Amino acid sequence: MVHFVIVGLLVVASTLGLGLFLTNAPILPLQASEQAITVDWLFNIHWWLIAFFFSLITVFILYSVFVFRRKRGERGDGKYVSHNDRLEIIWTAIPIGIVLILAVIGASTLADVERRDANALTVDVYASQWVWRFEYTAEVQTEAGETILTAVSTDTLVLPKDRQVLLRMRSADVIHSFWVPEFRIKQDVLPGGDEFVRELRITPNLEGLYKVRCAELCGQLHYAMLADVQVVTPAEFDAWLAENAGDCNLGDEQCGQRWATTYGCTACHSLTGESGVGPTWLGLFGHEVSLSDGSVVTADLEYLHTSIVDPNAQVVQGFQPGIMPQDFAVRLTEEQIQQIIAFIVSLQ
Ligand code: CUA
Repeated sequence: MVHFVIVGLLVVASTLGLGLFLTNAPILPLQASEQAITVDWLFNIHWWLIAFFFSLITVFILYSVFVFRRKRGERGDGKYVSHNDRLEIIWTAIPIGIVLILAVIGASTLADVERRDANALTVDVYASQWVWRFEYTAEVQTEAGETILTAVSTDTLVLPKDRQVLLRMRSADVIHSFWVPEFRIKQDVLPGGDEFVRELRITPNLEGLYKVRCAELCGQLHYAMLADVQVVTPAEFDAWLAENAGDCNLGDEQCGQRWATTYGCTACHSLTGESGVGPTWLGLFGHEVSLSDGSVVTADLEYLHTSIVDPNAQVVQGFQPGIMPQDFAVRLTEEQIQQIIAFIVSLQ
């Protein structure tokens, strides 16, 4: 009887020691998302269970080895026990019960982690060897007072606190894996196009700076495939998005297309060959244009540039002067103008 008491006390002491070690030692990264709280809760249940069974087994073995060892002068064999039906049924039934309970808890935790919020912010994530790019859709007011959608493309993942973000992730080459340890959950990012877009939902709940790490071996610079994550207040996020709706780090043609939409060019200039309020852009570059003064010019780079910054200088036959805003030289940077020209040139 005294053996059971001693073993029992040692098991309790060992379990508490191991359990409290994890819950108090700074082993895990910060909890910076609601999903992290849920995941850690499940992790802790497992940890305590493991601590208990580890203690139970280890204490029993060590206690037996020391206390029931052959003493000096002892002779003969130990008692032979072939089996014990009751004990074997018990030590089979208890683990089955535990596994079933953990399965139920695990499933409900998974459902909790994947819960969808209708108000989620969508961010498109593009992974490639060996960079991350994040694309947001922002509402921008045009000069005409219209609200239009524009893409904000960045290499830093900026997220508003306490709002679920839906990451729609795709890879341009090999398999990568999106992982922010402070958010706990991670997701493989697959190549193969729209069919293979993978989603991950995170609700950051702690402002701060974190890092996206690639958690899938993806080539030579896998270790350096990092990106900053910045969790800010919703107001800071809105300000950031509005500010960056003006920047573009895509290719020239794509940026040009964005400016053409953002600044309303395409409302008058079709990309399809149809005549609108203004001449179409399709097939414009390099072709001859009849102007309203009777002359004929070739639509070269200089012509396109002049048409943007000083539209009344060369009015195309059949179109009205003064319709197109005259102030694009001030509203657009020279880089933006060049990008729009690159976009027009690409429309052949
Ligand atoms: Cu991308 Cu490892």
